[in-house]
Amino acid sequence: MVFDFTDKVALVTGGASGIGLRYAKELLRNGVKAVTLADIDPQFGQKALKDIEEEFGPKKAIFVKTDVTDIRQFEDAFKKTVETFKNVDILFNNAGVLNDAIWEKEIAINVNGTINGVLLGLENYLKQYRQGSEGVIVNISSIAGISPFAFIPIYCATKAAVIGLTTSWGTPEHYQRTKVRVFAICPGVTTTPLISDMSGRNLGPEYETIMIRNVDTMPLQPPEHVAKEVVSLIKTADNGTIWVVEGGKPGYQFVIPERRL
Ligand SMILES: NC(=O)c1ccc[n+]([C@@H]2O[C@H](COP(=O)([O-])OP(=O)(O)OC[C@H]3O[C@@H](n4cnc5c(N)ncnc54)[C@H](O)[C@@H]3O)[C@@H](O)[C@H]2O)c1
Repeated sequence: MVFDFTDKVALVTGGASGIGLRYAKELLRNGVKAVTLADIDPQFGQKALKDIEEEFGPKKAIFVKTDVTDIRQFEDAFKKTVETFKNVDILFNNAGVLNDAIWEKEIAINVNGTINGVLLGLENYLKQYRQGSEGVIVNISSIAGISPFAFIPIYCATKAAVIGLTTSWGTPEHYQRTKVRVFAICPGVTTTPLISDMSGRNLGPEYETIMIRNVDTMPLQPPEHVAKEVVSLIKTADNGTIWVVEGGKPGYQFVIPERRL
């Protein structure tokens, strides 16, 4: 059955700028009732609300200052969503940083933040407060979660973790009891502040040298393209699947080969 966006509400972490804000806008373009932008940056948040009001009219979005590493703040974002809009149906675990120089924080945001989201969404809010028959969680990994990037090994590990969380929580056992579908997206290099100046965001000068050699060869894409592809995948992507959206091309499914038993 194709997911219907009518009357649905989405919570997007890291939704106040970058690709996250484009997910929020694309969801509204597809007919969701409202979106919550759960982001750590209130300045981005206020600007994003103004942008959304200009394009979609009033009462379509709220901003909740949220650090995804703190489960109480994350839960507050869910609570405010339900208080304001009555239901919550879609969660984008999108907040993320690329900075191996502060790798413990990077792991906390990219991995613990995503786990906090799935725990709150799948075990509680999307299960209890969805409007339709199914809730959806979109976990944002990266091409760096499925292929090696020599200059950012720890970022790659965080994004590989997101794949592991998705394939295990995206199993029939969890779907049958929660009716929450979970899938992952691996965007390619996308023009946002995350990649605009990567110098210093690594483990030292040797990594910087490797980075300069690596990055220029990769195809770029605008964040709007990723948002369009991903929001349309909400309608059709199966539980536990992984999708690559790279180089401005249509998304395709990435299948991990089966282990030999
Ligand atoms: N840009 C790319 O090339 C690319 C490629 C693959 C995957 N991704 C992933 O896509 C996601 C979005 O990336 P982006 O390019 O839009 O980045 P961005 O830096 O433009 O935006 C990230 C947003 O997350 C917010 N944020 C940061 N820490 C947070 C926290 N602790 N709690 C809540 N919000 C927080 C920031 O305030 C910002 O609004 C990330 O998970 C990133 O790893 C990006």
